[in-house]
Amino acid sequence: MGHKRLMLVVALVVIATLMLSSCAKTGDKQLEVFSWWTGGGEEAGLNAMIKIWQEKYPDIEFVNAAVAGGAGSNAKAVLATRLSAGDPPDSWQGHAGQELIGTYVAAGQLEPLDDLYKENGWYDVFPATLIPLISKDGHPYSVPVNIHRANVLWYNPAVLAQYNVDPPDPTSFDSWIAAMDALKAAGMEAPLSLGEAWTQKHLFETILLATVGPDTYTKLWNGEADWGSADVTKAIENFGLVLTYVNPDYASLSWQDASKLVADGDAAFNVMGDWAEGYFRVDLGLKLGTGFNWMPVPGTKGSYQFLSDSFVLPVGAKHRDAAIKWLTLCGSKEGQDAFNPLKGSIPARSDADVSLYSEYLQAAMADWKVDTIVGSLAHGVVANDTWSNDISTALGQYLTDKDGAALQAALVNLCKTDGPCK
Ligand code: GAL
Repeated sequence: MGHKRLMLVVALVVIATLMLSSCAKTGDKQLEVFSWWTGGGEEAGLNAMIKIWQEKYPDIEFVNAAVAGGAGSNAKAVLATRLSAGDPPDSWQGHAGQELIGTYVAAGQLEPLDDLYKENGWYDVFPATLIPLISKDGHPYSVPVNIHRANVLWYNPAVLAQYNVDPPDPTSFDSWIAAMDALKAAGMEAPLSLGEAWTQKHLFETILLATVGPDTYTKLWNGEADWGSADVTKAIENFGLVLTYVNPDYASLSWQDASKLVADGDAAFNVMGDWAEGYFRVDLGLKLGTGFNWMPVPGTKGSYQFLSDSFVLPVGAKHRDAAIKWLTLCGSKEGQDAFNPLKGSIPARSDADVSLYSEYLQAAMADWKVDTIVGSLAHGVVANDTWSNDISTALGQYLTDKDGAALQAALVNLCKTDGPCK
């Protein structure tokens, strides 16, 4: 090789090396993660994951783009605006089920994650019940970080003892009504605490389940059961009855406010997902059995009305490599075992270190294995966002006029316009 050629080769090698190192340097410097985990019972779990992120990737700034408001009541609108402006966050929180498949996947907003699933062996560790809920045409579209339970009745044991009322029987809806009657008779005006609109929908879905049972409940969502049936009429009646026990200022309370009424002894009961356990235990420092206690919403024992928070990879993510690193953390044992013990959820993975979890969460893990699994409405499993939002409107109307027949007619109609009913 002549001197000139040698120089050329050396120059090329130097340029290639410089280019490679500058590529490495211009790798993602940021990761923007969007969720609604800001307040008590919400952010401790996320912060634990952020801490791991900062240890693992000190050079990639974690931008926490959380928008306050339980169940995504504000966040989802902000996300929709960003998506329509072509400005997706690098990853966002989306519920497994119809919210994901019938909303974001249907709109072509997400990348499939087949390779990530294979590389990480996730098909072997995520529950078989969950995979179809995050897949379309056999391709998975999100990484589930947890399983939450929706049908939980939280109660204050000291308040029941003070009024000399036994905890209800979790197999009997009527025993819960009897307990609330006894509390009212003893002078407690609002034995059941309630909050803003989405918490009313949450209460409704649990009473629907308690009234019609898990089989019909599931069939209502897949179009095989009739929303016009006497069962549903009864469920609406039960919902109306339960609403007679709630605090009058419900519309202005967050879920934390409503949970706190129970913690403070100003109400005996609250129906909320088990993020409330994270709030009671981690944020308020209460002990299970004395400060708070739980049972399945009476009439729903044996059913696990679930939802799952999962994270996605949008088409056009600005920091795609960082987003993939984030999803890998979300699906990892390390990530899930840091997040869930604080969040008040059980891990989506089947190989978690059970000893890290609270007594309640260990009980939830046991129930998850044996109970009949049904999906949540208020948290994205059974209905896409359009259907679910239209049900919210109908429920809002019902809260004002208490017209059960009109609510049922709306539910019949919405299954046709937004759901699978013909
Ligand atoms: C749910 C979400 C939970 C919890 C809850 C209250 O929709 O899945 O993780 O954050 O809202 O905000």
